[in-house]
Amino acid sequence: MTHDDEIVGKAYDARLMRRLLTYLRPYRRQVGLAVAAILAHSALELAPPYLTKIVIDQYIPAGDLSGLGTIAALFLLTVLGAFALEYLQTSTMQIIGQRIMFDLRMQIHARLQQLDIRFYDRNPVGRLMTRVTSDVDALNELFTAGVVAVFGDAFTLVGIMAVLVWMDWRLALVAFSVLPLVAWFTEWFRSNVRESYRQVRMWLARINAFLQERITGMATVHLFRREERDFAAFEQINRHHRDANIRSILYYAVFYPAIELVSALASALIIWIGGGWVMDDRLTLGSLVAFLMYAQRFFRPISDMSEKFNVLQGAMASSERIFTLIDTPVAIASNARAVRATSGVIAFDHVTFAYVEGEPVLKDVSFRVMPGERIAIVGATGAGKTTIVNLLLRFYDVQEGRITIDGTDIREMDLAELRSLFGLVLQDVHLFSGTVAGNVRLGNDAVTDEAVAAAVKAVHADTFIDRLPNGLETAVVERGATLSVGQKQLLSFARALAFNRPVLILDEATSSVDTGTELLIRDALKVIMAGRTTIAIAHRLSTIQGMDRILVFHKGHLRESGTHQALLAERGIYHRLYQLQFQPAAGT
Ligand SMILES: Nc1ncnc2c1ncn2[C@@H]1O[C@H](COP(=O)(O)OP(=O)(O)O)[C@@H](O)[C@H]1O
Ligand SMILES: [Mg+2]
Repeated sequence: MTHDDEIVGKAYDARLMRRLLTYLRPYRRQVGLAVAAILAHSALELAPPYLTKIVIDQYIPAGDLSGLGTIAALFLLTVLGAFALEYLQTSTMQIIGQRIMFDLRMQIHARLQQLDIRFYDRNPVGRLMTRVTSDVDALNELFTAGVVAVFGDAFTLVGIMAVLVWMDWRLALVAFSVLPLVAWFTEWFRSNVRESYRQVRMWLARINAFLQERITGMATVHLFRREERDFAAFEQINRHHRDANIRSILYYAVFYPAIELVSALASALIIWIGGGWVMDDRLTLGSLVAFLMYAQRFFRPISDMSEKFNVLQGAMASSERIFTLIDTPVAIASNARAVRATSGVIAFDHVTFAYVEGEPVLKDVSFRVMPGERIAIVGATGAGKTTIVNLLLRFYDVQEGRITIDGTDIREMDLAELRSLFGLVLQDVHLFSGTVAGNVRLGNDAVTDEAVAAAVKAVHADTFIDRLPNGLETAVVERGATLSVGQKQLLSFARALAFNRPVLILDEATSSVDTGTELLIRDALKVIMAGRTTIAIAHRLSTIQGMDRILVFHKGHLRESGTHQALLAERGIYHRLYQLQFQPAAGT
């Protein structure tokens, strides 16, 4: 399945880690502060058992009450200090984490905006959403909970070991004798949890993919009565997800008590052997107590670190995916010496193009469109008409031949300028959530309120907008679900008019509207075609008879070209298409 975001590979990858650390660079002062705080915190954690030892070995036997007071004060101070340091470390790391998430999301979004349409053909929406949301979250966890905390845990461990060896290396060996057991449990836990964690993530990705597809396609689900089948399918995925989670719970439920057990075992050994040494005067009572206290602090970082292992692994997988996305080369972009784009003669010059290698959709296509000319493109569904538009706007680049405007290859032009030559009206109009006026203006402040109102009126969109509760300021929901297809079409005409671009492109712009609306649209068309070069792709031949020239495409070839009358007289493909539409009974 293409939606699966598998977690494979290493928990630690030096190359990825080095790149991840570059995100910390802008915040190196804060990172330095957090690391210092965590080291100081770990060091402070070492103090209480040792203070206890001093009390038991020195001040109590000596009956030194003021000494006790000093130690008690020190004890409180270390606790307060630990509190302050932990606050410092946690808040700093969390803030850095949030900043890095912000930076990463901006970077991903910027790349998503640059990537060409071919990229979106290959990558489902659900997967891209995951990059920007949960993958970035996983990285945040790495920075806030993972790296820094592991650093602190490791430091605590080493610190305790050093203090134990320094106090009494023989008893230290006794305490360490349980470490092989710890290693064994940890390894068992890590390998099992790793697998179940991978499973949980995989099934979660499938739940997301499934829901994303069904929610967008809910109307189709209802129409084809797929509810029961989808319900069953979802139940299965959902069940796998639950079971994978339950399996991982088992490992946690066993691992933590097991580590407690080992810790208790270590304490028992210390009491048994160390207690004997205290009786023989080979060890002070204070040291024994301190050993017991250290032993209890020793095992917590171990279980914490084992748990962090998952975070680390998930974050590594997420970062790998995020970097792959950020590194996706931008195939279509302005080159550095981009030429100014100006409107003029548009020419396709022996253009051959395939979406999928080896399956050309356009074959050796050549034609020209003069400034101010009105061209119609006709042909059966799948003939390659929309592809012409996709190439002209550089949503895709041609593989052979070239497209020029006034003799300049469009690939040498500034991409943004090139695209701003065209006003595009599609069959399927995309509306953004916002207001009606906002959807005409599309965030371009250069389009004044008056211009919006004038454009709306010119294309007769006011006929329905005036009946909306708030007129132009009526809210439009995502994808414009509350408007009819014809209404959306009129809005997109208003858009094209308001933006006032020199070349107008219509792709099946009138094919899915009712007759009443079509009359309005035909009138609107007259308004917006005035003084503009027009390329109109049409399904209904009735809408194009007045055009200057008609290009007929068939299976990727440009087969015929001429006026309506001339093409009819040729009695070729156009003639046949015309008869199919207007005299279905007559036949040929
Ligand atoms: N993004 C795409 N990826 C792969 N094939 C595509 C893509 N878009 C269109 N095609 C294929 O290219 C051919 C021409 O499509 P198109 O230009 O949209 O035809 P139409 O003349 O109906 O507008 C069709 O066979 C279609 O299946
Ligand atoms: Mg099409």
